[in-house]
Amino acid sequence: MTRHLVNVNDLSLAEVDELLEVSECILKSPKDYRKSCKYKKLVTLFYEPSTRTRLSFEAAMLELGGSCLGFSDALSSSAAKGESIADTIRTVSMYGDVAVIRHPKEGSARRASEFSSIPVINAGDGGRQHPTQTLTDILTIHKLKGTLKGLKIGVCGDLKFGRTVHSLVDFMRNYPGNEFIFVSPKELTMPDYILEKLNKNSVSFIQTTNLDEAISQMDVLYMTRVQRERFFNEEEYIRLKDLYILDKPKLATAKKDLTILHPLPRVNEISMDIDADPRAAYFQQAGFGKIIRMALIMKLLEVK
Ligand code: NCD
Repeated sequence: MTRHLVNVNDLSLAEVDELLEVSECILKSPKDYRKSCKYKKLVTLFYEPSTRTRLSFEAAMLELGGSCLGFSDALSSSAAKGESIADTIRTVSMYGDVAVIRHPKEGSARRASEFSSIPVINAGDGGRQHPTQTLTDILTIHKLKGTLKGLKIGVCGDLKFGRTVHSLVDFMRNYPGNEFIFVSPKELTMPDYILEKLNKNSVSFIQTTNLDEAISQMDVLYMTRVQRERFFNEEEYIRLKDLYILDKPKLATAKKDLTILHPLPRVNEISMDIDADPRAAYFQQAGFGKIIRMALIMKLLEVK
C-alpha cells in the first residue's frame, strides 16, 4: 500500500519518534545518507508561493542523492489550461517516486492521494493543514527543549487561517501534559474542530487576546503571520495584520528559556531586534526542516 502524508495524524506517535531518531542520525553523520535515494525522483507541485518548504524538500532529496523536478507556479503548469489535480497526479505518478503538493484549496492533497500510485505529501492545503511544517516544529522543540511533553505552548497570530498552527496543535495534543495558550484577535481564533478535539481529549487550553499577559507562562511561543491571501476583505486584513508584534519590551516577562518559533515568512510579527536573542529559534527551525524531510522521504520510499 502506498503511504501518503496528508494529515499530520496520518503518522503515529511511534512513527514520529522514528523520524526524530533518523533525523538525529542524519545530523550526526549526513554523509552516510548521500546515496540513500539514488535514482529516486521527487516531484514538487506548487500551486502556491513557497520558499522554505519547496527548497527544503528539494535540498533534502538532493542530499539523499536523488533528483527533483516540478513546478513552482501553477501558471506554468497545465492547471492554467484547466487540468484537474486528479489527472495531473496520475501523470506525475509515472514520472516520479514521491510527490509534494501545495495547493490553495483545502482537501486538494487528499484528492491527489486518491489518484496517486506514488506517495503524496501535503505541503499545505489552503488554510487546513501543513504536516511537514509540524514535523519541522517537533524536531526543533525536541532538540531545544529535550522533550515534547509537559510544555506550555503559546500560539499567536492568525489561528483561523494559519495551517501550520492547525497541524501543530493537532499533533502536539497527543503528548501528555501539553497545554496551549491561544493568542489572537476574536476574528482569528482557532477553528472549532480543533478546539473540539482538545476538549474531547481533556487537553487544557486558554484563549486570550492579550500576549503581554500570557507570555510569562509559555515554554514555547509560536508566532504566525496574518494570512492575507485567505481574507475576503483587504480592509479587514489591514485592521488585523499588526496586532501582535513581538519586540524586546514584550519579552521582558518571558521565561529565560522560552523558545520562539515561527514557520516563516515573517512579515511584521517579530521585530528584527529579537533575532539575536538566544531564545529566537526560527532560522534554526527552518534548517531542521530539511533534516526531517530527509527522514520523511526515506520513510515513504521505504529506504533503509
Ligand atoms: C507557512 C505556510 O505556507 O503555511 N510557511 C511555511 O511553509 N513555512 C506559513 C505562512 O505562509 O505563513
